Amino acid sequence: MKSMRIKGGAPLRGAVRSQGAKNAALPMMAACLLLKGQRMTLDNVPKLQDVDTMVELLSSLGVSIKQDGSKTIFDVPKTVSHAADEASVRKMRASSLVLGPLLARCGSVVLPLPGGCSIGSRPIDLHLKGLTQMGASVEIKNGRVHASAQQLRGRRIYLDFPSVGATENLMMAAVLAKGETIIENTAREPEIENLAALLRSMGARIDTEGTGYIRVRGMEEVAPCAMRVIPDRIEVCTYILAGVITGGEVTVYDVTLDHIAALLAKLEEAGVSFSVDTNDAGENSVTVYAAKKLSPISIKTMPYPGFPTDMQPQMVATLTLSDGVSLVEESVFQARFLYAAELNRMGANIGIKGDTAVIQGVKSLSGASVQATDLRAGAALILAGLAASGETRVENLEHVMRGYENIDGKLRSLGAEISLEPEE
Ligand code: UD1
Repeated sequence: MKSMRIKGGAPLRGAVRSQGAKNAALPMMAACLLLKGQRMTLDNVPKLQDVDTMVELLSSLGVSIKQDGSKTIFDVPKTVSHAADEASVRKMRASSLVLGPLLARCGSVVLPLPGGCSIGSRPIDLHLKGLTQMGASVEIKNGRVHASAQQLRGRRIYLDFPSVGATENLMMAAVLAKGETIIENTAREPEIENLAALLRSMGARIDTEGTGYIRVRGMEEVAPCAMRVIPDRIEVCTYILAGVITGGEVTVYDVTLDHIAALLAKLEEAGVSFSVDTNDAGENSVTVYAAKKLSPISIKTMPYPGFPTDMQPQMVATLTLSDGVSLVEESVFQARFLYAAELNRMGANIGIKGDTAVIQGVKSLSGASVQATDLRAGAALILAGLAASGETRVENLEHVMRGYENIDGKLRSLGAEISLEPEE
């Protein structure tokens, strides 16, 4: 258990490079289970706790995984286990991403049911409903999902909500199903497109047009494959906000601009300016110049291309220093404002009314000991600590380590005064 000590108040200046996207890497790693006696190579997999958990889970199923420079290599044997390791699934909800590929490949799966978490109940009913429609029999016994299907069959599936995980699980399962699967009202997150590109590199026939409609024509076996993980748009946006909240100037290299359009649009509305540069290799970077005064704004989180729920806490932290009242409505998760009380301990003035945070801007924040309740909440507290006067101690930092590679090193390279220490 670690905590982060931050001596805040100084504007951050400089440049950092983005990591590979956690939420793209995890489903792409799970997709290796579609292979048989073959190899998958992924480039740009971030070094994160959640990635280690997925490595642990895949290894327990029989996959051997090694690192070769920036590449992660997955050698998948002809036979893998169909029972997912309870400890890994309990550690990380995204472990449920093995359900679809494992069922399609092995004909049966046993998966401990992932529990709720501090941002909401997060059921996997849509994943299970879709697999059932594809012919699987699914039973929940003793806290485990038991699913089986000799041969999954392509179907037309309508998702009641554009769930990211359900879209990914069904897309992977459909690759080895018999016939054509059409999934409607799918998630449109960029990570879905990255997964589709990987599946295509396995030979899968998938049409995705970013319109919430995905068509997969099933096949009997797939081929060895390779893909690069896209830049992590949530990490990129977090460093952009580190520049904004501290009144500094931060550049982030390796950015896909379309993926961060919602954040840039809202920042522009708040009076922040930015510039974009493309180097000779075609790689984009973005530089953000903080505003003298941050104007209040209204935001509603929505599935992509709406404003990402995973940026909501960091944006609320930033708006605590705006000049007026901002409203931030959370529409994706039920309970994503637990961290607001911690920000208020630092001098913020946030009231929660149902699904909306009402943020009355204050002149300054002051350092305090605060608890990270989840990954993005932890990032929000770090941002607040960077802007606050005096010393902030963010406890339960392991939540943050799940999703941010070398966050202390990167922030230090921007001039932050930070140290990591074991919890007392
Ligand atoms: C993914 C991301 C997470 C992000 C979220 C929304 C990964 C590894 N994680 O999570 O960082 O915050 O997308 O952008 O990619 N739901 C159901 N039933 C289901 C599935 C989902 O009711 O079967 C609900 C959830 O409780 C939640 C909403 O749908 O309220 C969105 O969840 P979903 O899009 O599935 O998120 P994840 O894939 O879990």
